[in-house]
Amino acid sequence: MGLAVKRFVGELPVQAVYDIRTNILKKPMDIAVLRRKLPEIGQGHVLRFYESMDSSGRQNLIRQLQSLDFQNIADLVQTHVRIKPAIALPAGIEPVIPFPHTPDADRRQLYEDARKRGGEILAEGKVGAFLVAGGQGTRLGYEGPKGEYPITPVKNKPLFQVFAEQLLAHSRRAGRTIPWYIMTSDINDMQTRAFFHKHHFFGYEEESVFFFQQGMMPAFSMDGRIVLSEQDSLALSPDGHGGSLRALEKSGALADMRRRGVEHLSYFQVDNPLVYCIDQLFLGLHEITGSEMSSKTVPKANAMERVGNFVMGDGVLQVIEYSDLPESLATQTHPDGSLRFNAGSIAIHALRVSFIERLNEGGRLALPWHRAEKKVPCLDDRGQLVKPDKPNAVKLEQFVFDAIPLAKNAMVYSTERRDEFSPVKNAEGVDSPETCRRDQIRRGAKWLKDVGVEIPYRGKEPDAKIEISPLKAVVAEDLRGKTLPTKQVKAGGSVYIGE
Ligand code: UD1
Repeated sequence: MGLAVKRFVGELPVQAVYDIRTNILKKPMDIAVLRRKLPEIGQGHVLRFYESMDSSGRQNLIRQLQSLDFQNIADLVQTHVRIKPAIALPAGIEPVIPFPHTPDADRRQLYEDARKRGGEILAEGKVGAFLVAGGQGTRLGYEGPKGEYPITPVKNKPLFQVFAEQLLAHSRRAGRTIPWYIMTSDINDMQTRAFFHKHHFFGYEEESVFFFQQGMMPAFSMDGRIVLSEQDSLALSPDGHGGSLRALEKSGALADMRRRGVEHLSYFQVDNPLVYCIDQLFLGLHEITGSEMSSKTVPKANAMERVGNFVMGDGVLQVIEYSDLPESLATQTHPDGSLRFNAGSIAIHALRVSFIERLNEGGRLALPWHRAEKKVPCLDDRGQLVKPDKPNAVKLEQFVFDAIPLAKNAMVYSTERRDEFSPVKNAEGVDSPETCRRDQIRRGAKWLKDVGVEIPYRGKEPDAKIEISPLKAVVAEDLRGKTLPTKQVKAGGSVYIGE
């Protein structure tokens, strides 16, 4: 099956069709082929308005169709659209015991070794950073790519800049630039690239940044027909962050890693400015334990928090999404009232490149598809746009954490929420820009307080805006012994600790 690829990391031509099973570039399917193949998979209707379109409309539709894996679509319609596949929960679901944040006596040496090993693999150029930023950000209500969103409390730096500066600081320490793979999608790719160019890559070495696009999936009517959003356009959306593992292969990014000797990826999502894009200890533990995919967890804020849950399902480590974990389990407590299932996923992982290659063997990514019923504006038979008031379509996505049960020696490490997790997901309330800025200030205040700076408090909250540049410190310890511009933060003031 051919897969159209719009842009490669390397030099392959736009609109080339790359057969991932044979590694051969093929001629794109033209309209004659599409006219024959689409009816074969029950999708002939998408060309219904083709004759009346102008040439740019025709090109657009053909480009979209060329990017689809027809056989996969035909299969998914049967297994995931026309019927709702049952959510197969494991029979035995038990809590996980993660590696602790602070090592006990038995693990002190292991953690010391791991920290050292993490530093070594960074210095040896074996680690790449991997940011997934292809999503839509619908809940935040921000029009552009989410990474452009200004988020820091004093300088209003965008999320992309926060990551760039962290990676720059780590690169300096490692003595070499860490290759940075950034996944976008058709909905934000051009804007994301333009934003980086406009800001001169925030000081990062341009040659070490690789943009590539994830795949798009069409929405389907409940009876399995691809939905048109316009006469010349399918209703497409990104195929989920799990699609990143396929896109890494298809785009040539994995081949690039092989060339450079990158063996591990440090994976993070665009919505969390508190993330440690690179964590020496975590990467070292991942390497030393021989884990193919490692993850970070934090204790959940409450039983029903909208985060994935790490569990042992029939003895295998996996994530059960908040919407799938039965409430009876989510709310189970120990006698002291603490949650029994308390390992929340903060979507931070380390992955071996060889593992991602294995997942792609055979030409189809070995991850399940998740079905969601959504309201999708669509054209009716006469070509009129209909805005549904109830779910009318099925969207399909793959999730990156579904790779965990397929990984050898998968490892989970526990960390502190206040240090590493405060995502921007909603416009207001929980996980909003307001809570995220508050958490950045709290963390900054704590780091400064630990090195003797006086912080004003109003009740429990720091009474000042505080921001520490990643170029000054990526972790609290980096402030030790450094000259700081102030020993005392003024109440109601605003402090930026720059490089
Ligand atoms: C996600 C996780 C949840 C985890 C939480 C932590 C899912 C289904 N759930 O929830 O287990 O606890 O994050 O914050 O992911 N993205 C893409 N392409 C896509 C879809 C998403 O790149 O096709 C990226 C987004 O840009 C974003 C991230 O993935 O960086 C998260 O996606 P989102 O859909 O917002 O996940 P959540 O439901 O918030």
